[in-house]
Amino acid sequence: MYIHRKLWIAAIAASALGLGMAQAPAETIKVGMISSYSGLNGEIGPVMEKAMRLYMQEHAKDLPPGVKVELLTRDDTGPNPEKAKQLAQDLVVRDKVQLLTGVIFTPNALAIAPIATEAKVPFIISNAGTSMITTKSPYIARVSFTLWQSSYPLGTWAAKHYKRAYTLVSDYGPGHDAEAAFTKAFTAGGGTIAGSVRVPVVNPDFAPFLQRVKDTKPDALFVFVPAGTTATAVMKGFGDLGLKAAGVKLIGPGDITDDMELDTMGDVALGVMTAFHYSDASDRPANKAFVAAWRKAYGDKLRPNFTAVGAWDSMDAIYYVIREQKGKIDPARTMELLKHYKNPNSPRGPISIDPETRDIVQNEYLREVRKVGGHYVNVEIETIGTAVKDPWKALNNAK
Ligand code: PHB
Repeated sequence: MYIHRKLWIAAIAASALGLGMAQAPAETIKVGMISSYSGLNGEIGPVMEKAMRLYMQEHAKDLPPGVKVELLTRDDTGPNPEKAKQLAQDLVVRDKVQLLTGVIFTPNALAIAPIATEAKVPFIISNAGTSMITTKSPYIARVSFTLWQSSYPLGTWAAKHYKRAYTLVSDYGPGHDAEAAFTKAFTAGGGTIAGSVRVPVVNPDFAPFLQRVKDTKPDALFVFVPAGTTATAVMKGFGDLGLKAAGVKLIGPGDITDDMELDTMGDVALGVMTAFHYSDASDRPANKAFVAAWRKAYGDKLRPNFTAVGAWDSMDAIYYVIREQKGKIDPARTMELLKHYKNPNSPRGPISIDPETRDIVQNEYLREVRKVGGHYVNVEIETIGTAVKDPWKALNNAK
């Protein structure tokens, strides 16, 4: 293990030397993107890549003259930290990428964190949402979201509408965060937790858990599961087991009403209330332009969801650090720049990075699923948080 570690550091040192030489005349910035193209959420990797390539196509003109970006994409096969670590090592040592990005799953992001630190390769996280991830490396900046950002204000809102809530979450980082954030705010507002359950991340059978919830007759069921097909499975179970008919209100972070899945979920999703930072149905001009460009490139069957926007904004941050450094990436300078990155016009609204924590600051919207023009959409009803920093870090003074 120790020898292995030494070899790895030697490999990084050698690659850094090589990089210095290769960098002088060439102006191609290599960006390593790790996401899931197979396994759980295998349908989301391609969506993230599509968003990044669309950004690159639209903004090639914004790079300094002669500078190009090359995107190297890798499949981590779902929540698989060993695989993610290996891919990141290979991207850094063999492919000599100067930046890392992507990553849907928290365990994978945590496995990549020490590589970003040791190799001094800035890692711009496009999705993984457990609050503490950013504390694991000074070379991480996150442009996506945290579960605390959505679930904490949702808990405050829910306490004004429901007396008893049940929580059901996937049993890993983001699920634990969602459960803790919602419970804290909901009980502080006077609500009671009627029961809590944690389910396996991969292929859970929701029926026994949902039956237990139904028997408890809560006013609301708060759910976090990874967006995509898992969210559709829980939504179907909620309908099939009669919880919706029994009058239980389904609420949660927007992962459970993923824009990409809504038309597959169908009527059962109608009326579900969520807090989140992005809906493809938002009428902000920057979002309309983004959705129009997406449709022009990819048609209107595949809808851009929050992972597409996380990927799009990751590229915007990457293009910003490249421009500011005129095509020469210095890791320390890149992190300084990322700490002060801002975009008043992201498709999701104004965003920035908190320089203290390197985490995203953004608005949170309360949304309801409605049918509009033949599609099921998350209609933004109200902004329930403006320029929200990660509440977990604020409450725990974590950096
Ligand atoms: C995560 O693993 O951090 C994660 C995955 C899927 C989501 C949200 C968070 O929808």
